[in-house]
Amino acid sequence: MVSIFRPSDFHVHLREGPILNHSLNENLKHFQRILIMPNLSNPITNSKILLNYRNQIEEIGSNQMDILFTVYLNDDWSIKDLENSYQNNLFFAAKLYPKNATTNSTSGVGDIRKLSKHFEILEKNSIPLCLHGETIAPFDDPFEREKIFLNKELVWIQNNFPNIKITLEHITTKDAVDYVKENKNIGATITVHHLLENTNSFLGDLLKPELFCKPLIKNRSHQLSLQKAALSGNKKFFFGSDSAPHLSKKKFNSQCCAGVYSSKYGVSNLIEFFSSNNKLKVLDKFLSINGNGHYSLDFNKKKITYKKIKNFKFVSKTRCNQDYLIHYNHYNAFWLLNK
Ligand code: DOR
Ligand code: ZN
Repeated sequence: MVSIFRPSDFHVHLREGPILNHSLNENLKHFQRILIMPNLSNPITNSKILLNYRNQIEEIGSNQMDILFTVYLNDDWSIKDLENSYQNNLFFAAKLYPKNATTNSTSGVGDIRKLSKHFEILEKNSIPLCLHGETIAPFDDPFEREKIFLNKELVWIQNNFPNIKITLEHITTKDAVDYVKENKNIGATITVHHLLENTNSFLGDLLKPELFCKPLIKNRSHQLSLQKAALSGNKKFFFGSDSAPHLSKKKFNSQCCAGVYSSKYGVSNLIEFFSSNNKLKVLDKFLSINGNGHYSLDFNKKKITYKKIKNFKFVSKTRCNQDYLIHYNHYNAFWLLNK
């Protein structure tokens, strides 16, 4: 039996339409708080779209779970609308996508220096900035994108706007771990799949579309750096699943979409990982304490318990809109929440 605080996931894609129904209900089973991403097919770039998305979610219902919204930072946001929306508590953090870095990022930012006015609003209002930390340039190696971003863009943001609280999302490299450790006003999320997979499991044998995500999964030595950071309990590192459902027909075709849907088995995988490393006493830090601390949020300290079930049979997909969503699960084991 394992006893933990009900987890928080600080990076989730709930999507829209039929997928939203599934992903929201799945998240309700596991989390007390989630921070949700704004890269909808029509990205959240003004208060009208934001309100519409809030209503869609409210209609389904969110029970006891605290849902924190992000907005999609780009030039389309009028400064006034951005500031008013924040002051009216319509969103919690701003997300920056480099142009063409990932799913629905064609409206992302080409040159971050052109967003200075928006960064000023973030700094003035203490709005957290969540970064997809990759530089997209035609001749750079996709495996190097995160590392290049650190020196090229992140240093610039931190030098010019030192008071913005930054979250470097879904980090994948030792370079990112070191950067976050060495600098002020910055924390990082780590996903389950980047913790538990590496280039061998992703493409060392047959290519696994279900592990294709951005940033790309890196080699074993980067994986070990992420594991060390998560298991250390260092308050700068916390859970953000980047759970990103796509319909199966969009994963298994000639142009595979980036994204790993991990909400169903994510917590179970983390319990198994921390437990097999004899670090269960650090799990609450990674799953609840550090992330909420980073964002200065209080959270429910009531403990819940999980037990490992015998004869686990992995259900790899869920029916959705005449298609399927593919679940990610690393271990042949399952930790079930005691009701
Ligand atoms: O793999 C990813 N999928 N990475 C992201 O940054 C976005 C996400 C998505 O929205 O599908
Ligand atoms: Zn994401």
